[in-house]
Amino acid sequence: MSETAELKLPGQTIELPIVVGTENEKAVDISNLRAKTGFITLDNGYMNTGACTSAITFIDGEKGILRYRGIPIEVLAERSSFLETAYLLIEGKLPNQAELDFFTNRVRRHTMIHEDIKRFYDGFPRDAHPMAILASVVSSLSTFYQHEESRSEADHFSLNTVRLLAKLPTIAAYAYKKSIGQPLMYPQNSMSYCENFLHMMFSTPAEHYDVDPLMTEILNLLLILHADHEQNCSTSTVRMVSSSKASLFAAITAGICALWGPRHGGANEEVIDMLTQMRNEGGGVRKYIDQAKDKNSKFKLMGFGHRVYKNFDPRAKIIKAACDKLLSKMKIADPLLDLAKELEEAALKDSYFIERKLYPNVDFYSGIIYKAMGIPTVAFTVMFALGRLPGWIAHSKEYSNEPGNKINRPRQIYIGEPLAEYVSIEKRK
Ligand code: SDX
Repeated sequence: MSETAELKLPGQTIELPIVVGTENEKAVDISNLRAKTGFITLDNGYMNTGACTSAITFIDGEKGILRYRGIPIEVLAERSSFLETAYLLIEGKLPNQAELDFFTNRVRRHTMIHEDIKRFYDGFPRDAHPMAILASVVSSLSTFYQHEESRSEADHFSLNTVRLLAKLPTIAAYAYKKSIGQPLMYPQNSMSYCENFLHMMFSTPAEHYDVDPLMTEILNLLLILHADHEQNCSTSTVRMVSSSKASLFAAITAGICALWGPRHGGANEEVIDMLTQMRNEGGGVRKYIDQAKDKNSKFKLMGFGHRVYKNFDPRAKIIKAACDKLLSKMKIADPLLDLAKELEEAALKDSYFIERKLYPNVDFYSGIIYKAMGIPTVAFTVMFALGRLPGWIAHSKEYSNEPGNKINRPRQIYIGEPLAEYVSIEKRK
């Protein structure tokens, strides 16, 4: 007999089922609360609310644990490739060699974008933010793949999964090329996923360009680390849009838009801006730590804090080590990395951060690596989107395959005007 929770309400007491997850997480199932009691629950920012059950990713925020389909992020970071990790997240298991080869080759053959899509880029202002371009172009993909009703839903989802995984790097790289006035570099199917992206970003028709294998290795690592993170803001958005049975392109477009916010994926861009401001203004890190603690200041230490992690973000630890490795191998002495380490050390000794369990998150060091790779700061969140794409797709698929799934439609408590009259305009004050 599973445990239940007893809820005492004015004039009534009800029992609610308790749901227990694989790792012994517990939830009170309130699916029938309103029908039984007329009450709903209220939870600003969903701090305490589970939107679903999911078998994709497990996070233990207190212990700093992150696993994709049960496999620790540290192991995948060490041993996997981004496409293999994408397969794991989307299909629910590690691919055997034949499955991985088939998946890899399928992605490779969809890396080009329709030639007509290139014309969209001519309409954007030269300094258009690449996240706006990404959202616009991904949304437009659905116009090139209409009238495919003949395919089964599963085949259609699988094909659109491949199209998105294959084309997002091309779309992203072309946004960068347009911003610097260089031509689109077509994908090369002979290259690996990460190599191809770096080729499209940094090669030119004017001379031969060899992709640095170290950059390919580091990019592979970063994309794996960003690939999923259970019900974060952008993934929850993808599930929300998927619940209305909108297309996968529409759901992913919504995820891109949600990720863009500075509280979420946009933080990696903000971290570099913050560190650059610190370096330019000088005066050390203490001034910024005090500003971040000052309730009258809107300033927050970007790249610090997390809704779930109340311990080190395991991804931040891995990225910090990769930072050291890449910069030392490239013989780059980036003062921003030294500043970031100084800031981390000072913050983690400060009672304000200790009491609130504010640690560096995935965004704190990633920008330093992207900067060392030659990626412009404005495109850092695009890199986050490239990594998060398989996670978004996996959650859209999990939602769509859930038996009896319903459209996501939260309730509310109304606090506006009571019943009011329509006052004709001549009588209005
Ligand atoms: C990502 O959800 C995910 O999984 C996200 C992500 C993923 O992989 O998808 O991990 C990626 O989005 C990482 C987070 C990137 N964002 C930032 O680095 C922006 C800076 N961080 C903050 O905005 C904040 O920490 C959030 C948004 C990340 C989390 O905010 P919460 O959970 O709503 O916590 P909160 O704002 O209520 O903060 C609790 C307290 C507050 O102080 P008190 O009111 O208790 O006095 O901590 C303070 C906050 O003021 N606080 C900070 C702070 N973060 C929280 N104070 C200074 N600097 C900060 N960075």
